Amino acid sequence: MEKKRGSFTGNIGFVLAAAGSAVGLGNLWRFPYLAAKNGGGVFLLVYVIMALTFGFALMITEIAIGRKTKLSPVKAYSQLNKRFGFLGYIASVVPFIIFPYYCVIGGWITKYMTDFIIGKGMETVADGYFVSFITSQWSPIFWCAIFMGLCALVVYKGVDKGIEKISKVLMPLLFVLILGIAIFTLTIKGPFGTALEGLKIYFVPDFTGMTVKRFFNILLDATGQIFYSMSLAMGIMITYGSYTKKETNLSKSVNQIEICDTFVALIAGMIMVPVVYAFQGYEGLEKSGTSLLFVSLPKVFQTMGVVGHIVGALFFVLVLFAALTSAISLLEAITSVVMDKFSWGRKKSCTVVMIISAVIALVTCLGYNIWYFEYTLPNGVTAQILDILDYVSNNLLMPVVAFVTCILVGWVIKPKTIIDEVKCNDEKFSREGIYKFMIKFLCPVLLILIFTSSFIKY
Ligand code: PHE
Repeated sequence: MEKKRGSFTGNIGFVLAAAGSAVGLGNLWRFPYLAAKNGGGVFLLVYVIMALTFGFALMITEIAIGRKTKLSPVKAYSQLNKRFGFLGYIASVVPFIIFPYYCVIGGWITKYMTDFIIGKGMETVADGYFVSFITSQWSPIFWCAIFMGLCALVVYKGVDKGIEKISKVLMPLLFVLILGIAIFTLTIKGPFGTALEGLKIYFVPDFTGMTVKRFFNILLDATGQIFYSMSLAMGIMITYGSYTKKETNLSKSVNQIEICDTFVALIAGMIMVPVVYAFQGYEGLEKSGTSLLFVSLPKVFQTMGVVGHIVGALFFVLVLFAALTSAISLLEAITSVVMDKFSWGRKKSCTVVMIISAVIALVTCLGYNIWYFEYTLPNGVTAQILDILDYVSNNLLMPVVAFVTCILVGWVIKPKTIIDEVKCNDEKFSREGIYKFMIKFLCPVLLILIFTSSFIKY
C-alpha cells in the first residue's frame, strides 16, 4: 500500500528543519579550525563567496529535485532520467554510512554535556580522560544509544509533528545560546592575551606568505567545508524538498538556510578562535577535530573557575542541539528511502533502519576498544572504523554524487528543469545566470578537485 507522504506545515518549519540539518558539528567544530588554519579573514571571505555560489547552486538543485518529484532520492533520480537511477542508490547509501558514526560522536557530546550539567565537568580535563572514555567498553555504547533513541523518537512522530516541531524549538534556542556564549567569551582574558586579540586573528585577513598554491588550498578547504556543512549530496535536501509545498519560495528559503548555516559557523569561530587563543595561544589553535572540542575546550572552561561550569554546560547543550537536528535529518533521509522503496509505513521503516544503524554504531564504538586497529587512508590519515566511514562518505561518495548530479542537471535534463521548478509560482530567481554557470561548469570542476584531493597525502 502506498503511504501518505509527510509535509512541513509552512515555510518557517521547512527552513528551520533544513537549517537544523545544515547547522551541525561541521559549523561548531570543523569551521573554526579551518578558519584558524587558513589565516582567518581570507578564508572567511572565500567561504562566503563560495557559499553564495557553489553552495547555493547545489542546495537549490537538491531541494527543487525533491519538490518536483515528491520522492526520496532512491526514486527521484530515476524519475528525472532512467539512466541516472543508480545515483539514487549511492546518494541513499551516504546517510546510511554517516548516521551511525554521527550518533557515536553524538553520544560523546551527550556524555560531556551531562558531566558539565551535574557538576562533574572538571573531571573531563584530566590527562587522557577523553581517550580512556572512548576506549572504554560500555560507556560510549550507552551514551550513543541514548542519542540514537532521541533521534528515533522524533523521526517516529513524523515530518510535521516530529521534525518540524523539534526544529522550531531547538533552532531558536541554539541561536540564543550561541550569541550569548559569543558575547560572554569576548570579554575574557587568558594567559596568552585577550579574546579581542584572538578575534583580530580570526577576522583580519593575513596575506603574509600568500601564494597561488596556498590560495588554492584555501579555496578547496572552503568549498569542501560548504559541501559538508550544507548537508549536500546525501539525499537530505532532496528528502526535505519533497516535503515542501508548491507555494514555498525556494530561492528565498535557500537564502535563509544559507544565512543560518553561515551565521552559526562564523559565530562559532568567534567563540573558539579567541577563547582557545587567549588560553592556549597559537599552539592551541593548531589542534583540530576531536581534541579541540573534547580536550582543549574543557581545559579552557576549567581555567574560568565556577563560571566555566555554567559556560561549559551551556556550550555542550548547544553542541548537542546542533548534532541532534543534523542526526535527525540523516535518519529521516534513510527512513524516507526505505518507506519509498518498500512501501512500508514510517514506524516499521524507522525501526528497521534503527536496528541496522545500531549494529553499525556498535561496531564503530568497539573499533576503539576490542576491535581496535590502525589503517592508513589514501590521504595519509591514520584511521579507526569511525574515520574510515567518514572518509568513504565524505571524501569519496559525496563528491561523486554531487558531480554526477551536476552532469545530470547541467547537461542531461538541463538547468531549465530546475529553474522552472524554482519559478513555478512566478517567483523571481535572481541568481539564475550564476546558477546555470555554476551547475554546468564551475561546480563539476570544483567537485573533481575536491575528490582528487582526497588522495593527496598531507
Ligand atoms: N551539515 C552538518 C554539519 O555541518 C553535517 C551533516 C552531516 C549533517 C551529515 C547531516 C548529515 O555538521
